[in-house]
Amino acid sequence: MIEFRNVYKTYRRGRIEALKGASFLVPSGALAGFLGPNGSGKTTSLKLMVGLLHRDQGEILVKGLDPEYEAREVRAITGFLPEKPVYPPSVSVEHFLRHVARLRGVPWSDVRRIARLVGIEKYLDKPVSSLSRGYLQRLGLAQAILSQPEILLLDEPTANLDPIARLEILELISVLKKDLGATVIISSHILPELQMVIDYAVFINNGRVVDYGRLADLASRYGATAVYKLTVATEPRSLAKELLDLESVKGVIIRDEKVLEVHVDPRIADFSPYVEDLARRGLVLDYSVQTSYLDQLYRKAIGGS
Ligand SMILES: Nc1ncnc2c1ncn2[C@@H]1O[C@H](COP(=O)(O)OP(=O)(O)OP(=O)(O)O)[C@@H](O)[C@H]1O
Ligand SMILES: [Mg+2]
Repeated sequence: MIEFRNVYKTYRRGRIEALKGASFLVPSGALAGFLGPNGSGKTTSLKLMVGLLHRDQGEILVKGLDPEYEAREVRAITGFLPEKPVYPPSVSVEHFLRHVARLRGVPWSDVRRIARLVGIEKYLDKPVSSLSRGYLQRLGLAQAILSQPEILLLDEPTANLDPIARLEILELISVLKKDLGATVIISSHILPELQMVIDYAVFINNGRVVDYGRLADLASRYGATAVYKLTVATEPRSLAKELLDLESVKGVIIRDEKVLEVHVDPRIADFSPYVEDLARRGLVLDYSVQTSYLDQLYRKAIGGS
């Protein structure tokens, strides 16, 4: 469990207030999204969690440890991907990972396994300086997970990645979470993607946490629905009626003779299989998510604060 209680953090001798009484909780085993606009305090919070910064006030507990005074103990159980990692440019990927492994007491066989897992195995003998940004990000992920940490803190792990690599990395993170049984916090701005992997969210705005909790609870609290756009090849009114019989469908708007807008409760999983069947039968030509519900939660939580 990770907990912040009324945490304050300033920079430049108090002139910049980055955190103004942030309080939240992330339970053990959660895969949490840490979400908020630029400059809201995400990176500051993550750095505080690994004891890289000194807080002005408040309490922080990482699995019962205080990261400022028990930094070594916290780092022993935590993997951290910084927002702006700096690597030694001239050494090889293998050399760098061996060095990190030695520091953390991880055997070399584990390094090979992790390198394979994040997809940088074929770059092991290449200099770090030759890696593209996406592969640098994979290297960052490799060093973060090397010692199979109980807690994984990832500051924008999909930044600089192409769309396919982003999905690969997110899938990798959810596999790792299952494998390690770790508690994961991901800060990111890319909500529709994040929605596929997280089960918990912390919303931060202007140095204060405005809401947090399990996604399902937040969704029902805010009455959020996923909005799908369906292009249909059948009579729209009778199809709309049929869809309304599904438990998850909260509303259907007929945009025109070909397009339906369907509002779906994201907690009930009967919509996608139903529409896929309609698509197979040629009654639905195309369907896509118009607004993700994480997007709605974000707008409601951040916008309402
Ligand atoms: N080293 C620093 N010196 C001075 N001010 C800083 C420093 N680091 C962060 N800040 C300020 O603290 C506030 C919070 O910054 P932080 O980096 O935590 O935000 P963030 O939520 O991670 O933003 P982003 O989404 O852009 O990464 C901002 O106003 C930022 O300008
Ligand atoms: Mg940041």
